[in-house]
Amino acid sequence: MQVECSACKTRYRVNDDSIPAGKSLRLTCKTCKSPILIEGKPPKPEGGPPPKDDPASLKSKITKSINDLPLIPQVVMEIQNQLSQMNVNMQKVAQMIETDPGITSKVLRIANSAYYGASGKTSTIMQACVILGLRGLSEVVILAGSEKVLSGKLSGYGYDAGDLWRHSLAVAYGSKILANTRDPGISSAAHTAGLIHDIGRIILDPYIGERKSQIQDYMEKNQKTFLDAEIEYFGFSHAEVAAEACRAWKFPDFMSKAISYHHDPAGSNGDLLAYILHMADHIALMGGVGYDDDDILNEVQKDAMSFLQLKQSDLSEILLKIIESVNQIGMG
Ligand SMILES: [Fe+2]
Ligand SMILES: [Fe+2]
Repeated sequence: MQVECSACKTRYRVNDDSIPAGKSLRLTCKTCKSPILIEGKPPKPEGGPPPKDDPASLKSKITKSINDLPLIPQVVMEIQNQLSQMNVNMQKVAQMIETDPGITSKVLRIANSAYYGASGKTSTIMQACVILGLRGLSEVVILAGSEKVLSGKLSGYGYDAGDLWRHSLAVAYGSKILANTRDPGISSAAHTAGLIHDIGRIILDPYIGERKSQIQDYMEKNQKTFLDAEIEYFGFSHAEVAAEACRAWKFPDFMSKAISYHHDPAGSNGDLLAYILHMADHIALMGGVGYDDDDILNEVQKDAMSFLQLKQSDLSEILLKIIESVNQIGMG
C-alpha cells in the first residue's frame, strides 16, 4: 500500500503483510521527521461460516481426486470391460476374477443367493460363469466389487453403515425391472447404473461434513433436501460427481449421462435410462428404502410416469418386486 506524510506529502510504499491484522505501525517521515501512523488490515472475524467455494474450482478439485479414490477395485473394472466385449473368453474372465480372493468369495456367495437361482450349486468361478451367463456374471461382479465401498457409513450426510448399500441395491433392481419392460437390451446397464447412481455422495461426504451445521440449518429452515443443499453450497450435485467418476472409470458414456440426469431426467433430452434411474430412485425412497427424513421431500418429475408408460398402481407392484429381489440377494 501507499502512505502519505500528512505534513510534507512525501509518499512511501509499505508492504501490507509487515503490519499484523488489527494493529497499527508508527513511522517517522524521512523528509520532515513528522510521525506517520499506518493502520493494518481489520482483524479476521472469529468463527462464523467458512467462505463458499468457487463451484468451478471445487468441482475440478473433486474431479482430480476421483482418480486417486479406490472406490471400485481396478480388477472389477477390467472384468466389466472384458464382459462387454463382443467375443468374451470366459476362461480368461474366470482367471481374472480368481486373481482377487476377496472378489472371488463374494462372487460365489452372490451366485449362490436365492436371486441368481444357483443356491448351493456353485463352488467354482467357472461354474458360476456357466450358470449365470454373461449378463448375470456382469451383475454379480459389479455387486461384489462395490459392496464394500457402498456399505460404509457417510458421517457428513449422517447415513448409517448399510443405508447407501441397501438403497443402491433397491435402485439397481428397480432399474432392471423397469428396463425389462421398456428395453430389455439395457437391463444389465440399468442394473449397474442403478447400483452406482449415488456414488457421488461418497465423494461429497467429507465436503458436506465440513459444512454440516450450516447445511442442517439451511435444510431445516427451508424444508430442503441434501440434493438442494449440494447445489446451494457447491453449485453442483452428487449426480454430476457420480457421472464424473463413471467417466474416470471408463464406464460407457450413455451410463454416465443417465446418472448425471437421475434427479432431472427432463433435462436429458428423452434419455430412457435417466428416466428409469429417476423412477427407480423415487420408488425406493417412497418405499422406505432410502436414507433419512428428507426422503419424503423427494419429488418425481411430472412427465416421468407418462414417459415410462406407468400407472400409479404399477409402483406398489414394482416396489414389492424390488424388496423381494434385495432380500433374495441376501446382502441388505
Ligand atoms: Fe441421487
Ligand atoms: Fe438415490
